[in-house]
Amino acid sequence: MLAKLDELCAKSLEAVQQAANTEALDAWRKETLGRKGAVYLMTRQIGQLAAAERPSFGQRINAVKKELEAAYQRRLAELKAVELRAQMASSAIDVTLPGRPQWRGRLHPATQTLRQIYRIWGDMGFQIYRSRDVETDEYNFELLNIPQHHPARDMWDTFHTTSPGVILRTHTSPGQIHAMREYCPEPIRVILPGMCYRYEQITARSEIQFHQVEGLAVGKNITLADLKGTLTDFARRIFGADRKVRFRANYFPFTEPSAEMDVECILCDGEGCAVCKHTGWLEILGCGMVHPNVLRNGGYDPEIYSGFAFGMGPERIAMLKYGIQDIRYFWSNDLRFLEQF
Ligand code: PHE
Repeated sequence: MLAKLDELCAKSLEAVQQAANTEALDAWRKETLGRKGAVYLMTRQIGQLAAAERPSFGQRINAVKKELEAAYQRRLAELKAVELRAQMASSAIDVTLPGRPQWRGRLHPATQTLRQIYRIWGDMGFQIYRSRDVETDEYNFELLNIPQHHPARDMWDTFHTTSPGVILRTHTSPGQIHAMREYCPEPIRVILPGMCYRYEQITARSEIQFHQVEGLAVGKNITLADLKGTLTDFARRIFGADRKVRFRANYFPFTEPSAEMDVECILCDGEGCAVCKHTGWLEILGCGMVHPNVLRNGGYDPEIYSGFAFGMGPERIAMLKYGIQDIRYFWSNDLRFLEQF
């Protein structure tokens, strides 16, 4: 019996060293020291021994148990250390790997165009004047010489708020009145950029919201020649030095005379293509000499002062510059579009 016990002890000590990982070690413990393990089975056999042999056998069993338990603890510590080292090696950070590229944001194409426009006008001495998006009917129409029921109102279909007479501006022109009332009687050179809103059917050419950059110069002795010279210079700076421009007579209630400025088509160089509808010209802005009524509404005496004004759509300019076919791309937040700029 004792010999058997010694043999079990020796075998188990060998086996515990062979357990290759903590899982195998757990299994060993169950088989050896567990509730129905080999050592327990030995204990059960104590009854077969002569009474005199029992105490020494019992002592020996206890000693074996202790020895095996100690061997288990030692092996467990060894295996845990090995496993920890392996885990650290496999999840190590390789500091020599190249970093992940950072995703870089960029400016929206409309913002890029706006900034180009600001720069050019800034170079010519025009300051940026901000005015509100929510306007009154009075500023958006009346003070710009567009009374109630005037047919010209059809050109600017409006979003109304729940407050009577409070609307979203349909153009940046009401800013002209704000600027004049603030600066009068000083001379003015400002551009008025901002979002405008029109209640329109959305198509490839028209959106319900878009930017405009308005311009206003007021002072003594400002003439149509100043308007033409300044706008021609602007067109050359934004579209290229040898772009031709032309002025076509037009009608706006708040300017007199009024015109639209066309630039030679930048896609076909004036040859005629689908974008310029085979005319060779692209319309880029409306302009004119500030109407005497509007000067008066701004506080200036039209007998002494005169001025010119213009309004352009930067999205339209970006469309022409980059050959963008559909204005709806600007506000649809599609990265496939935005990332091209
Ligand atoms: N406000 C006009 C528009 O929205 C543009 C314009 C501005 C025309 C200033 C003349 C002078 O169409």
